[in-house]
Amino acid sequence: MLERLQKFLARAGVASRRDCKEIIASGKVRVNGQIVTETGAKIDPEIDKVTIGKRTIRQPKLVYYAMNKPKGYITSMEDPRGRRTVRDLLPDIDNHVKPAGRLDYNTEGLLIFTNDGELIDHLTHPRYGVWKTYWIESRGVVTEKAAERLRRGVMLDGRKTSPAKVVIIGHDAQKNKTQLTVEIHEGRKHQVREMMRIVGAPVLTLRRIKVGPISLGKLKVGETRLLGKVEVDRLKRAAGLLD
Ligand code: URA
Repeated sequence: MLERLQKFLARAGVASRRDCKEIIASGKVRVNGQIVTETGAKIDPEIDKVTIGKRTIRQPKLVYYAMNKPKGYITSMEDPRGRRTVRDLLPDIDNHVKPAGRLDYNTEGLLIFTNDGELIDHLTHPRYGVWKTYWIESRGVVTEKAAERLRRGVMLDGRKTSPAKVVIIGHDAQKNKTQLTVEIHEGRKHQVREMMRIVGAPVLTLRRIKVGPISLGKLKVGETRLLGKVEVDRLKRAAGLLD
């Protein structure tokens, strides 16, 4: 697949995209031995040899992980306040991965990590509309009427939430708790907790069980696994990056 030279260099960690543009314009970059100064130039990273001086620029290996984030961890690679972060749960092998989106400190469940910046953009930007599914245990009874309000959208910070898919699983009369799933494709701050609060059904437990086509499955709390090629392609397709 053809890619802009500037983007390829930035992804390989040479410099920011803007600085790469200048590096190209200054005539330092060669493609298959020929100097290229056109910033719009495209290359095939699988075939073309890109060099800067004696250095051959290689594409970093793209990796994709699924993590079952526990409660009590922040979705950040470091925390100045010394709280536990999701980085503590990642294997050491690749420190360049980042989480695609965030889960609250007290939310558990599926988080995707990757060093593929384009996929992160597509998974997190509401424009691409990737559905995320949450399993919820809520205090009290969640009525069909409340579920219908969630489905139609509720006013949150002066703006209506997009239509949600809501399934009430059941109510435990003894514990006075309701279990349900809510599926949304926006990513507003504390969105599910806020939506539930607005319909009078505060969240007790919030667990993300699906991102696009990827399910949490049997992944244990605190564990991370590599996604396979088929899963990555399905995820990219859901995010509008593959036909
Ligand atoms: N909605 C929330 O309220 N919290 C999360 O962590 C994710 C979605």
